Amino acid sequence: MDQRLNYLIAGMFVLLTFITIIFVTTLLPAWTFKPEASAEAVVYTALETEGRNIYRREGCFYCHSQFVRYQDPEMGEMVKAGDYVHETPHVLGTERTGPDLSNVGGKYPSAWHWAHHIKPRAVKPGSIMPSYSYLTEHEMTALVAYLQTLGKNRKLPQWIVPPQEYRDRFAVISEKVNVKASAIANAGRGIYMQNCAQCHGVAGRGNGPVSMSMMKKPANFTRPYYAKYRDDMWFWRVAEGVPGSRMPRWDRSLSDEDMLYLVAYLRTLPRTDNPKVNDIEVSEMSQLDDPNVLDHNFWQIESLNPTNHGGGDMESRYAYGGGRGD
Ligand code: HEC
Ligand code: HEC
Repeated sequence: MDQRLNYLIAGMFVLLTFITIIFVTTLLPAWTFKPEASAEAVVYTALETEGRNIYRREGCFYCHSQFVRYQDPEMGEMVKAGDYVHETPHVLGTERTGPDLSNVGGKYPSAWHWAHHIKPRAVKPGSIMPSYSYLTEHEMTALVAYLQTLGKNRKLPQWIVPPQEYRDRFAVISEKVNVKASAIANAGRGIYMQNCAQCHGVAGRGNGPVSMSMMKKPANFTRPYYAKYRDDMWFWRVAEGVPGSRMPRWDRSLSDEDMLYLVAYLRTLPRTDNPKVNDIEVSEMSQLDDPNVLDHNFWQIESLNPTNHGGGDMESRYAYGGGRGD
């Protein structure tokens, strides 16, 4: 056969393959895939559309993505195709040199965005984001209006979840210890009294004796807020501690099993009866007057004048704090 015909057939084949790929991955979906608008899809106003165009023009999507996948739950709710029906062309992005912006709307006040765009390092020390100080006032207004729409229709039942690493680790080790069992919680209470009560208080109210001299107070586990914590979330917080505070990384000194016992106890502490501020004040004050509440008397047991727990209660609580600061 003619040599050139061979090349022609090979060439045709390559071209056909190429066209098929383009057809199947690009044209066909564009024609057939028409998702319904989801409740999260945002319809943009004229100003926001303008802002979106500036976002494209300035290439913000070279560094910022706008999608949350299964494997990045800490960025918020997973996105659906229907979230993007009003977005043509899309600005999904591929790189995450900067953080994902799917849910940045409402995270900061608009004034923060202005400051950040003019001089990123003024609000985020060490930021490598370029300055957009050359944008006109109108452009900046439009861009910020657009940013504030991102994720504004998403309602997040559980925004904060532990990192994948901890969720996996918890899933494995929690098979050994049933954190929902009350006997386990009771055992956890013992570990808590030895390691945590001096800061977090005997009843978990964040008012242990050591807390008095601390600038950043220990967490009050009786807050209704903590009722939303998942078991693996507790585990993560105990294991990693709280950077920038006196809360230690218990991972370093306690075993996985000990920490699970603690989780079992901690998860019983949040109050779900949602007390009003006035109620807390009243009930805490009345407990302060009750000499049987160990929390309050923690120091006084050792104090020189053990009978002195009437009258100037609040005074005496803080009097033992000594100096200020941590
Ligand atoms: C060279 C890469 C780069 C480009 C281009 C870029 N950014 Fe950023 N951006 C970053 C980095 C890195 C951060 C994280 C540090 C910081 O907050 O400054 C960031 C942070 C942000 C944040 C704060 C996110 C958060 O959750 O704290 C917003 C909002 C933002 N950028 C918007 C924009 C907009 C709008 C543009 C386009 C006008 C843009 N960025 C262009 C790299 C970039
Ligand atoms: C030296 C004092 C100290 C000790 C001891 C201590 N904590 Fe803390 N703990 C803190 C401080 C301070 C915080 C930070 C509160 C905040 O972020 O507002 C904290 C925060 C926490 C949090 C995070 C709460 C949140 O908001 O997510 C958990 C969980 C916790 N502690 C559990 C424990 C457990 C369990 C122990 C004992 C094994 C313990 N802590 C011992 C001081 C202490």
